[in-house]
Amino acid sequence: MATVPDVFSPGRLGPVTLRNRTIKAATYEGLSHRGRVTQDLIDFHVAYARGGVGMTTVAYLAVDKDGRTDRHQVLWTDEAMPGLRALTDAVHAEGAAVSAQIGHGGPVAEARGNRSPALAPSARVNVIAMNRAQEATVADLERIVAAHARAAARAV
Ligand SMILES: Cc1cc2nc3c(=O)[nH]c(=O)nc-3n(C[C@H](O)[C@H](O)[C@H](O)COP(=O)(O)O)c2cc1C
Repeated sequence: MATVPDVFSPGRLGPVTLRNRTIKAATYEGLSHRGRVTQDLIDFHVAYARGGVGMTTVAYLAVDKDGRTDRHQVLWTDEAMPGLRALTDAVHAEGAAVSAQIGHGGPVAEARGNRSPALAPSARVNVIAMNRAQEATVADLERIVAAHARAAARAV
């Protein structure tokens, strides 16, 4: 029978070793402002790190403006980088790792706040977002794939 590792023992995630196997899930808190990290967002994640998690997850960092599900979400821009750096350093100082959830909201993006249509595989009403999403073109998909790559490079 396979042995189950102790949740409080170190665990490896690719190149990263976590001090234990507890990971705080992504829960978008609405603590970012105008696309940037706030001190409240840093304090929120530091509290989990101080509490002992192996890794915390910064929820929903949008790869492009039209992918935001809330117009205040952090965007991967030059302006956002110092705040992300400060958050990362503050979490690391407490001994935890930090991950970034990179995403595009697709059909649940906030079309009105973003001032651009939500995108989906086909045009349809999304009852969760109360949106009517527009069918994504090949050019849209190529742009969004490239935006994910840029965001991943910035996260590294
Ligand atoms: C208020 C709230 C915000 C959430 N925001 C995100 C999010 O930004 N990204 C995400 O992947 N999941 C999000 N979730 C989903 C949680 O990560 C998920 O509920 C958690 O992993 C618990 O897993 P379970 O639903 O399987 O119990 C959110 C959940 C809640 C309650």
